Amino acid sequence: MTNFNKKEPYNDLPALPPAVNLETKKTLNKVISSSRALAQLDGAISNLPNPSLFLDSIHLLEARASSEIENIITTNDELYKSIVADKINEDPATKEVISYKKALWSGLENLKNKPFITTNQCIEIVQCIKQNTSGIRKTPGTKLTNHRQEVIYTPPCCEDIIRKKLKDLENFINGESKLDPLIKMALMHYQFEAIHPFYDGNGRTGRILLLLYLKKEKLLNTPAIFLSEYIINNRTEYYRKLRNVTEKNSWEDWVLFMLDMIEVTATKGLEKLDKIIKLMNSFAEEVKSTLPKVYSKELIEILFRLPYTKRKYLIDAKLGTLKTVGNYLIELELSGFLKSTKVGKEKLYLNYRLMEVLEQ
Ligand SMILES: Nc1ncnc2c1ncn2[C@@H]1O[C@H](COP(=O)(O)OP(=O)(O)OP(=O)(O)O)[C@@H](O)[C@H]1O
Ligand SMILES: [Mg+2]
Repeated sequence: MTNFNKKEPYNDLPALPPAVNLETKKTLNKVISSSRALAQLDGAISNLPNPSLFLDSIHLLEARASSEIENIITTNDELYKSIVADKINEDPATKEVISYKKALWSGLENLKNKPFITTNQCIEIVQCIKQNTSGIRKTPGTKLTNHRQEVIYTPPCCEDIIRKKLKDLENFINGESKLDPLIKMALMHYQFEAIHPFYDGNGRTGRILLLLYLKKEKLLNTPAIFLSEYIINNRTEYYRKLRNVTEKNSWEDWVLFMLDMIEVTATKGLEKLDKIIKLMNSFAEEVKSTLPKVYSKELIEILFRLPYTKRKYLIDAKLGTLKTVGNYLIELELSGFLKSTKVGKEKLYLNYRLMEVLEQ
């Protein structure tokens, strides 16, 4: 707001929290409904016998969607195959999405030891996504443009100023505040994107931070949620609302947008989880009655961890020798539970019904 000129580095970007009332009737109502949806999802995940069972599958979907916002496009099939196969010639987009998933995973691991969001952590995330040693922007020239290549925003510059702003953001995120944590999350996302600390990967890093934050605040202990799908479906709004905060101080609108993202994706996530669990139960019953000698609870879990599986996963779970587990998979295919496919010399087995539900 202060001295904003879209063509000049916005070094006057104010620190959080903004000097406006964010606890309006509208936002508070939305906080209630979005928190409720999130709590339901959290409860459903925590009640699972193995809450992290579906996490890899779900995080890959989130990674794919978040990368798609940046026009890094791959298919779910390609993605799941490359996670499972030993050797595969991935296209660059698939590689980048897999790096995104790794960045998310290691960010979540780091939180276990250090329950804070820090500048260094953001740098680790972006380096992991981009698979390079990039750091905070050191040279001027980074500008955000619209589809007509007109400059719409020039982020602060350069390293010292960016570091100072990130430090302020760190203090805000990890410090005490009377604001509701979901409102805080919305503020954090705008601020991170407005600082735009890196040459590239700011959108994706900022969206990983959303999941880390949900975990850190214990709002979603196993952060299995597809936030980016909402952003893809509302991409123009997402960009416009970020811009309106800078240009028009439209914080309330932005906060409502982020809260709606939480509510919609938590509700959808719960539905999807429900479908996966129902499918897993009926799948287990069917295997038990059709192939009683093949059935075990562990086997079903392996077939639902990711849509593709291979003999090694069954051996690692001590379900039998190479020959035995090979026969299990062949029998499962003959009975219509799985479909095999070759990747190089390797045979992978697809739980196509799980894939269908994941893709819905
Ligand atoms: N007017 C704006 N002000 C601040 N941030 C913005 C604005 N418009 C877009 N952004 C953010 O910048 C991100 C794009 O930045 P960058 O290309 O560095 O990230 P990315 O991860 O490579 O791409 P993407 O976010 O498109 O996946 C957008 O996703 C959005 O989060
Ligand atoms: Mg980019």
